[in-house]
Amino acid sequence: MAAAVATPLKFTFSSSHGSTRGLQWRNNQRSIKRPYRGVITAKIDHKPPPYSLEALEPHMSRETFEYHWGKHHRAYVDNLNKQIVGTELDTMPLEEIILATYNKGDLLPPFNNAAQVWNHEFFWESMKPGGGGQPAEEVLELIKRDFGSFEAFVAEFKAAAATQFGSGWAWLVYKANRLDVGNAVNPVPSEEDKKLVVVKSPNAINPLVYDYSPLLTIDVWEHAYYLDFQNRRPDYISTFMEKLVSWDAVSLRLEAAKARAAEREREEERARNGYEGDDSQTEPHSEDSEAD
Ligand SMILES: [Fe+2]
Repeated sequence: MAAAVATPLKFTFSSSHGSTRGLQWRNNQRSIKRPYRGVITAKIDHKPPPYSLEALEPHMSRETFEYHWGKHHRAYVDNLNKQIVGTELDTMPLEEIILATYNKGDLLPPFNNAAQVWNHEFFWESMKPGGGGQPAEEVLELIKRDFGSFEAFVAEFKAAAATQFGSGWAWLVYKANRLDVGNAVNPVPSEEDKKLVVVKSPNAINPLVYDYSPLLTIDVWEHAYYLDFQNRRPDYISTFMEKLVSWDAVSLRLEAAKARAAEREREEERARNGYEGDDSQTEPHSEDSEAD
């Protein structure tokens, strides 16, 4: 397993656009255990939801959480830790593992478990007790600008979640990616940059691999809703939107996404101007001085 991922990983990861710095906004979501006394231990955490397992009842039952978080999410974590132990992925933040193993759509073995761990953490944090309603002003204004109205956004998000064939996810994302992203495949045209867009993704795929900034997600794998809603996926989606969505989380994520986009623009501006660091500014002056 280690040899299988090591060779392509070096190429794909080093060729991605500024990805390590660009993704640090989520790095605090897990602990990184460094090798100690020669023992290499992968340690992706099985992070709990930010509320008790019965806190979303009656809209999402404790029984659903016991299976969904307690068994499905745990299995992704356990399997990922087994897959990456002793490999180059072992000490990477989870987001970097996802981008490295996405491999331009030719998925490397740890991708599905890595992305599913990230997706589920993000999903738990996309909900809260007493959720639903409408977002705070800044998010609401952007939604109105980019979808026409809050109702139009809800309809588009619900449609994406309902029409994702088989297993997958629906997302609200802030799209501010650049055109020269090395390891990303971008399904939405570049003229849509700096906008909120709704996307859906199959299986474990998430918008990080499109270089988008996710703001909200709903899990539409059957295991997410079957105990509470059986095959009535549309009822589950409506309950999520009306009773569970944490717009507080969306606001915080939007701030982080905009800050990330602004930092990228500053980096690109510095690169365009040839100021890539203190050394590049000081060395030519030193040479000039000596020539004089
Ligand atoms: Fe799930």
